[in-house]
Amino acid sequence: MIEEIKNIKEEIKNIKITSADQLENFRIKYLSKKGKLSDFFDWLKTAQPEQKKEFGKPINELKNLLQNTYDQYKAQFDSADNALTNELDLTLPGNSINTGTKHPLTLIQEELTGIFRKLGFAIADGPEIEDDWHNFSALNFPDNHPARDMQDTFFIDKEIALRTHTSSVQVRYMEKNKPPMRVIMPGRVYRNEAISARANCFFHQIEGLYIDENVSFADLKQTLYYFVKELFGENVKIRFRPSYFPFTEPSAEMDINCRICEGAGCNVCKHSGWVEILGCGMVDPQVLTNCGIDSEKYTGYAFGLGVERVAMLKYDVKDLRIYFDNDLRFLNQFKKIS
Ligand code: DAH
Repeated sequence: MIEEIKNIKEEIKNIKITSADQLENFRIKYLSKKGKLSDFFDWLKTAQPEQKKEFGKPINELKNLLQNTYDQYKAQFDSADNALTNELDLTLPGNSINTGTKHPLTLIQEELTGIFRKLGFAIADGPEIEDDWHNFSALNFPDNHPARDMQDTFFIDKEIALRTHTSSVQVRYMEKNKPPMRVIMPGRVYRNEAISARANCFFHQIEGLYIDENVSFADLKQTLYYFVKELFGENVKIRFRPSYFPFTEPSAEMDINCRICEGAGCNVCKHSGWVEILGCGMVDPQVLTNCGIDSEKYTGYAFGLGVERVAMLKYDVKDLRIYFDNDLRFLNQFKKIS
């Protein structure tokens, strides 16, 4: 009997169980009521006291070995079973990956700057909190002059304000660089205005500046015409209206035909069929002098373009407040474009 127990122990040591079926066979063979272990215990019940002493211990050891082996494999198959079912539950919905999108104003800004870059314009920027000199005085807005009322300003103190336009960056750029210069300056600007579908207390502009010898108004018109055609297509119409800005002479505003109603009349174009998108002009010689540039030698043009206004026309948006509502139903529509 000892021999038999030994053999079984040896067998168990080398055993390899690779499936739940094999494990069940193992259980039936050794651990079930009709299995080997039962035979040993049945025999033990009727054995002589000395035999019980001699065989009791090895039989119990064998029992532990068989039971442990069985338990180990069982645990292994159970957890593999669970893992398998979890992994392969094809009925579960997939995890959606929520990717972000670029904001429409970022998209349009990238597009606008891209067009001017092709024309050789560099990019510059400046501070949003600006002093009186850069935002007003250097641009020919004299102290206490009514022209300062053209833009409702958020003052921080008498000398410092949130910039009302990106023209302040023109001044900074001209102070630091020498002509020829060809540069665009995108940025956020602030005005103390009532918020409506067409106006906000902050918005974005792109300022353009080109200074060299013999720059003329024709150069300005040609550049802007090229720009709108790149943005809106060949059939876009433009018109220039004479205007006034203290820092340009002559000054103009440029309109394009309304892309939203195509001339039928809508809120965005105030039923005129035309939408103003920028102000422009030849840089006033006094501004050049203020910034340390020889106005006898150099001339230049400048323009300031409203980014929201252009984005409204490009993306058919009728109320600019929606750009700042963070409404995902609106923002997600720009996934395809970015
Ligand atoms: N700064 C003007 C505004 O905010 C726009 C502008 C007009 C900019 C004419 C210019 C310009 O550079 O030449 O209304």
